[in-house]
Amino acid sequence: MPVISAADLEFAWPGGAGLSIDALSLIRGWTAVVGPNGAGKTTLLRLLAGELTPHAGTVRRPPGLRVAVCPQRVDALDGAIEAFAWAWDPPARRWRSQLALEVDDVARWAQLSPGERKRWQLGAALAAEPGLLLLDEPTNHLDADGRALLRAALARFEGVGLVVTHDRALMDGLAQRVLWVEGGGVQAYDGPYAAVQAQRAADRAQQVADLSAAQARRRALTAQLAQARRDRAGAGAARIARHRMRGPKDADARGVGAQRRAEKAEAAHGARAGRLRHAAQQATAAVQGHGLRAEVGGDVWLAEPPPAPPVLVRWQAPTLCAGDRVLATGVDLAVARDARIWLRGPNGAGKSTALRALLAQRPWPADRLLALPQHLPAEAAAQHLAALRQAPPAARDGVLQRLAALGVRPAQLLASVAPSPGEGRLLALADGLRRAPWLVALDEPTNHLALPTIERLEVALAQHGGALVLVTHDAALAARLTRTAWTMEGGRVQVSALGSP
Ligand SMILES: Nc1ncnc2c1ncn2[C@@H]1O[C@H](COP(=O)(O)OP(=O)(O)O)[C@@H](O)[C@H]1O
Ligand SMILES: [Mg+2]
Repeated sequence: MPVISAADLEFAWPGGAGLSIDALSLIRGWTAVVGPNGAGKTTLLRLLAGELTPHAGTVRRPPGLRVAVCPQRVDALDGAIEAFAWAWDPPARRWRSQLALEVDDVARWAQLSPGERKRWQLGAALAAEPGLLLLDEPTNHLDADGRALLRAALARFEGVGLVVTHDRALMDGLAQRVLWVEGGGVQAYDGPYAAVQAQRAADRAQQVADLSAAQARRRALTAQLAQARRDRAGAGAARIARHRMRGPKDADARGVGAQRRAEKAEAAHGARAGRLRHAAQQATAAVQGHGLRAEVGGDVWLAEPPPAPPVLVRWQAPTLCAGDRVLATGVDLAVARDARIWLRGPNGAGKSTALRALLAQRPWPADRLLALPQHLPAEAAAQHLAALRQAPPAARDGVLQRLAALGVRPAQLLASVAPSPGEGRLLALADGLRRAPWLVALDEPTNHLALPTIERLEVALAQHGGALVLVTHDAALAARLTRTAWTMEGGRVQVSALGSP
C-alpha cells in the first residue's frame, strides 16, 4: 500500500533542468535512488520532502508524517542538528554515542571535517525517528567503520526510506526497489539494483536491436520503392511509345489487347509503388519514434604532459598540525613522478590536511597539477562554470569533451544556474584532465559521482603515466590504482608497499 504518492508532478530549475513525473508511489522499506550526475536525484528528494514546491501536481503524505532529510551538502549547520546535539531523549543519546559524537563539537562546526559533519547530519536524521527518511548520498566522506555502522542502522529502520547512493555495498544489502532518475523522468523498478541494472541493460540491447531492424527495413523498402517507381516509369514510357507508333493494324483486336496490357502493367507498378511508399513511410516513422536515448559517456583520456622532474614533491614537516592538534611529526617523504600513493587513515586522521600540506611544497606551476579537494563549496563550482563559459574555444572543447566522456550532458551543465555537487566535481576533474597533469591528487574522488562515471574515471587514472596521490575510503579502488600506502596513525605517516595494482 503506498504511503506517499505523487502525480503529474512538474518541476523545472532556472536554466532548464527539471523533472516530470506521471505517477510515483512509495512504500515501507528502502528504495535506492540512482542516476547520472545532474539528473535530478536531489531535486526529487527535496520535492518529496516538501522543501521544493512543484510547479504542477502534488505530493501526498499522510497527515502528521514525520519527515527527516540528511542533505547531500555538508556546509550548513541546520537547526535540526543543534537540537539533536542538545536533546536528552533516549534516541538522541543513543545515536550520539553510536556515532561517537561529542556535543561540544557542534560549536566548532566550521572546523569539523566533512566526515564528522556527515555523522552529525545522519545522527540528527535518525534520532528524529521519522516515518519518511530521505538520505542524499549518506556514505560520502564516511570511513569504513562509519559505513558499516550506517548500514546496520538503516537495516533496522521501519518507515519509508529513500537513499540516493552510488555505494554498491549500501545498496545491495538494503534496497529492494530502485528509482532511476534520468532524462528528466523517474522510472520505478521492483528488485535490487543488480537485477534492475541487468534488466535495463537487456531492455537497451533489445531497443538497439529493434532500432537496427527498423533501419534495415527502411533501407530495403526505400530501395524497393525506387525500383517500383523505375518499373512504373518504364511501363509508362513503353505504353506512350506504342501509342505514338500506332500502325494501321493497331486498331484491330490484337493492337487493342497489347495497349490494354501495357496500361495494366503500368497500373500494377503504380499500385506496388503506392504500397511500398506507405510501408516506407511507416518504417521511417518507426525509426524516428524509436525512443532510444543517446548514451553519454565514453573514453576519458588525460592530455600528455611535458617530461616531469624525477621527484615531483619533497614533503618535509617536523610537525603537521590542524589548528592546535598535532597530526603527525617527523614527516620526510617524496613523491616520485610515477608514484602511486594511497593516503589513508580513519575519519579525522588528518588526510586532507596532509594532502594540502604536501601540495603546498610543490615547486612547479599549477598547470601541471590536478588537485580535487574533498569538499568543493558551491561557490567554487559556480566559479568553475563561469570560467568555462568564458574560456577560449579550444580549452572549452577540451573540458566539454571530457565532461561528456565522464557522463555529463554538456549542454545541460553549461545552462545550469547552480551545478549539483557531482557536476561541480566533474567540472574540476575535466578541467584538470585537460591540463596534462604531472601529479593527480584526489581527495575522496568518488564522493558525489555516479557509478558509471567512477568506472570511467578509474580507467583514465589507470592509464595515467604520471604520479597519483589518492585519498579514499574505497579500498578496492585504491588496490587497483596504487602501489604504496601512506598510513596516518600513531602520530606518524607510515609508508608501506601494497600488492601490485
Ligand atoms: N538551486 C538550483 N538552482 C538552479 N539549478 C539547480 C539547482 N539545484 C540543482 N540545479 C540543477 O538541476 C539539475 C539537477 O540537479 P540535482 O537534483 O542536484 O541532480 P543530482 O542530485 O541527480 O546530481 C542539475 O543540472 C543542476 O545544475
Ligand atoms: Mg545530488
